[in-house]
Amino acid sequence: MSDARSTANSVSYADVQAAAGRLHGVALRSPLERNDRLSRLFGAEVWLKREDLQPVRSYKLRGAYNLISSLSPTERANGVVCASAGNHAQGVAFTCRRLDVACRVVLPRTTPRQKRAQIESLGGPGLTIVMAGHTYDEAQDVAAALAVELDAALVPPFDDRRVIAGQGTVMLEVLDQLAVARPGVAAGVVLVPAGGGGLLAGCAVVSASVSPSTRVIGVEPMGAASMRAALDAGEPVALDSVDTFVDGAAVKRVGTLTFALVRDLVADVVSVAEGAVCTTMLEMYQREGIIAEPAGALAVTALGANLGIEPGSCVVAIVSGGNNDVSRYGEILERSLVHEGLKHYFLVDFPQEPGALRGFLDNVLGANDDITLFEYVKKNNREIGPALVGVELAAKSDLAPLVERMASSGLTIERIESGSPVFRFLV
Ligand SMILES: Cc1ncc(COP(=O)(O)O)c(C=O)c1O
Repeated sequence: MSDARSTANSVSYADVQAAAGRLHGVALRSPLERNDRLSRLFGAEVWLKREDLQPVRSYKLRGAYNLISSLSPTERANGVVCASAGNHAQGVAFTCRRLDVACRVVLPRTTPRQKRAQIESLGGPGLTIVMAGHTYDEAQDVAAALAVELDAALVPPFDDRRVIAGQGTVMLEVLDQLAVARPGVAAGVVLVPAGGGGLLAGCAVVSASVSPSTRVIGVEPMGAASMRAALDAGEPVALDSVDTFVDGAAVKRVGTLTFALVRDLVADVVSVAEGAVCTTMLEMYQREGIIAEPAGALAVTALGANLGIEPGSCVVAIVSGGNNDVSRYGEILERSLVHEGLKHYFLVDFPQEPGALRGFLDNVLGANDDITLFEYVKKNNREIGPALVGVELAAKSDLAPLVERMASSGLTIERIESGSPVFRFLV
């Protein structure tokens, strides 16, 4: 047996079963719900595993609780340390309150106040929040140093066998629940969101042991596809940059242990565009009343990717979390419209002649085109010179006629291409 293989085997099905025993009565056995809309849309039986309904609104308490409850009495007495700005910290804070363990959570100084408040409300009297560093990586360095200084256990967010085993309990439940709901029918595909790969690795361990015909597929955001990069390189590699929009899954470098398990046990890892994730979030909210955070919507978004799903087969998508901040919906709407081809930006140079703007409104804009942004670029110019114009279309097909009218208008109009630096600034 190769070294890689023995590393991969370092989390076993028995570890996940033991984790399920520890989590009994702590984590919610979250519902597995058949979703009619998605089933019709994708011609399969689509089931959603609702981890957004956990007491901390994500699956993250599973791994944290499994690790902390496995510590010896002496280790527990020394307390624990973690670094996180989000769901992991909530899982650790919740666990430490339940188990009466002192806990230090290192948050980057950039953490929004309401996230900090959420962690505080879940934690008990033994919780101490330490604000340090500007990025997650810096906070992690501080947490590691603090753990050494206090002789306290560090609770990593994904690259730890106890964390992976805890997250794997999601898959145990999925298979049990499906066996009851659809006796004799195996899940064809299980879609699992991936950041550092803890949930994906844990789910893959379970599936490989008890449902080998099930294809476990990892889903990453396109702007932070660190598992794909690791698989291509044959080892975990650090991405040069990450788009932090899908915050739960915006990981620069996946874990060593998670990587080995994913490489050996996972059928495929795909990535989905951030804009598509936004559209999914809005649809889930409007059609089902499900509040998914961006990472929580990754798996459902992948239903639209070309995954070769067998018609009529059972597909499970894990809705991993629902901690979405209401203030983010503006950006989510914007990114979704851009992704759907309904929102466009132009630089229109209005000449110094009367009625130029009137002419643009009357002759260039279509009946269903709405101006959503209008800003003269040069602050000292009023009503002449270049203006930044945002246009929202009723249908994607309205773009070609709009561009044609622009071309024949006699005005100098430049389309701001998505992906350009100016565009990224706008969206
Ligand atoms: C809601 C949610 N989904 C998915 C992930 C990715 O998890 P992992 O790092 O285990 O791959 C996270 C990580 O924090 C998360 O919070």
